[in-house]
Amino acid sequence: MYKIACFVSGNGSNLKAIFEEIAKGNLLTEISLVVSNKSDCNAVKFAEVNAIETFIIAKDSSNYSELINILLNKKIDLIVLAGFLKKIPDFFVDAFPNKIINIHPALLPSFGGKGMYGMNVHNAVFNSSVKVSGPTIHFVNNNYDEGLIISQRAIDINDVKSPEEIAVKVLNEEHKILPFVIRKFSENKVRVIGSRVLID
Ligand code: GRF
Repeated sequence: MYKIACFVSGNGSNLKAIFEEIAKGNLLTEISLVVSNKSDCNAVKFAEVNAIETFIIAKDSSNYSELINILLNKKIDLIVLAGFLKKIPDFFVDAFPNKIINIHPALLPSFGGKGMYGMNVHNAVFNSSVKVSGPTIHFVNNNYDEGLIISQRAIDINDVKSPEEIAVKVLNEEHKILPFVIRKFSENKVRVIGSRVLID
């Protein structure tokens, strides 16, 4: 069975979307571990209610080495940052080359980088006057939001009246694209060729 670990910090709606696709039988994957820097966030509560093992990252980040060992022992195939709001240390990223993916709520390489998370992103998108936004799934490297782009979905935001409206539309799309991409990984259909990522 293909195994993933989901890293979360907030509401966990993406975690829930993945969980539901698995429950429906659309995704032959197991969520083997939920990792968070916030022990009391909704995403962790969701994991606990659904009997998924959890791991809490220490405030001083001192247990990342322990986490690497746990992930290796569990033979995790893919690490999914699904709303994880803490920068991951370089040595952790280096331990899992091309095995960590992140979902970002805008079309990278625009509207990314340090400080660009949550409503900061959607406010910037709204104020920029762009006509499309949407989620990006990319590999994680040692710079914020700069790893190779795996998949994107552009949605029309021509007639939105507020950043909040963009947030709702983008999140709705995230819930579709993230399980889709995980499924493609689990089917071994994601290939990195030079600076491009191909999904078969
Ligand atoms: C999403 O918008 C995701 O793109 C961003 O954080 C948000 C997480 O939402 N990285 P949730 O916790 O999955 O509801």
